[in-house]
Amino acid sequence: MDVFQIEGPVQLSGSVSINGSKNASLPIMAAAILTGGKSILKAVPNLSDISVCGELLSQLGCTVSKNANGDLCIDSTVVDNPVGDYEIVRRMRASICILGPLLARCGRAEVSMPGGCAIGDRPVDIHIRGLRQLGAQIHLKNGYIIAEAPNGLQGCDIFLGGPFGSTVLGTANVLMAAVMAKGKTVIESAACEPEVADLANCLNKMGAKITGIGSPRLTIEGVEQLQPVEFQVIPDRIEAGTFMVAAAITKSELRLRNCRLDNMMAVVDKLRNIGVTVDSADDGCVVACNGRVRPADITTHPFPGFPTDLQAQFMALLALADGNSVIVEKIFPDRFMHLAELNRMAANLRKEGSAVIVAGVKKLIAAPVMASDLRASAALVLAGLAAEGTTVVNRVYHIDRGYERIEEKLNPLGAKIRRENV
Ligand code: EPU
Repeated sequence: MDVFQIEGPVQLSGSVSINGSKNASLPIMAAAILTGGKSILKAVPNLSDISVCGELLSQLGCTVSKNANGDLCIDSTVVDNPVGDYEIVRRMRASICILGPLLARCGRAEVSMPGGCAIGDRPVDIHIRGLRQLGAQIHLKNGYIIAEAPNGLQGCDIFLGGPFGSTVLGTANVLMAAVMAKGKTVIESAACEPEVADLANCLNKMGAKITGIGSPRLTIEGVEQLQPVEFQVIPDRIEAGTFMVAAAITKSELRLRNCRLDNMMAVVDKLRNIGVTVDSADDGCVVACNGRVRPADITTHPFPGFPTDLQAQFMALLALADGNSVIVEKIFPDRFMHLAELNRMAANLRKEGSAVIVAGVKKLIAAPVMASDLRASAALVLAGLAAEGTTVVNRVYHIDRGYERIEEKLNPLGAKIRRENV
């Protein structure tokens, strides 16, 4: 199992290119199921989650390969096994987003019910409710969601809100089912995340008729057939936000290329409020910080609010702020596995329900720590860049799920991270 040995504190400088978005790529890969031909996806990052998704599509019958340019090619001419196996779904919850496209393409699907994970319960009740409203018959058997629509799906008006607001993959699932349903579907309380908009844009390029993209009301006119496409996924706003925090926590200046600030306004606003400069530049931005950051109050919300996927990284940053901050988690109220690990590095964090009081400290001190989920492990790497001594981050496979060789991106900028297999 790989671990990171991170020597700190370091200063960073230079320029880094942000990858295509993982969370946009996964549902777009699932959308390829709908076309019955060979789609070419550009800028899909090289991550373990993407490989798992490729494996899943192969099991369905698709052929998944890379061309000479490194683009991902998905040929869905054959989809003859509409089953999402437990062995794959338990490795990646996002596998659930094949349910909608399989129903639309094959009229049936069996997908293992995802369990909870380190960041919370993560139910899929809203996905199922939305698909049922489109006419699918759905029941649970042996831990599998069995969905059938022998007479096809029928467009309708669907309210897709839940106790924590909208759902990203729930919207993706229902949208992918609705594009080939008969008649018109309106999804109200749709997720507005840029990754959902990217999926909708890709579906429209395939021939779907979706309007209201990026808004909470999506209107879909069903079509009979979709064509394969060539499509480039958007840059990863969470990877970009992680590198912005890397600049801030090391009091450094970094240039980010392939980064879209218009998808990150809540994050940029927060950074500017705590004393970090973020200036847009060609194809990206320059992020600079020349001292201790000011404290801040952060509450996570669905887009365009502050993303839960950057909560842990900002906690690492605010742990070193000049004063007290409060971080409230409104999407996954238990997503605080990083807290105890950061405290092992001499942070002063106290959980109160779904909030954390962050009492800023002057320095962090290196320690062996345990990565628990993708974003929590990113927070530990960031803390390790600023902490005094050698931080050892265990279970690096969590970070490999969402960051492509993060040490190979950070080391040329001045980080001292060694990957070791122990
Ligand atoms: N929810 C329900 N019922 C549902 C679905 C969701 O109650 O049927 C709740 C969830 O428990 C949560 C809230 O609704 O409280 C929002 O969850 P959402 O469904 O939006 O999450 P997701 O679609 O499963 C995606 C990202 C996550 C990201 C969340 C929130 C992908 C592959 N995953 O998950 O990304 O945190 O949206 O923005 O797109 C990550 O990349 O590290 C990651 C966890």
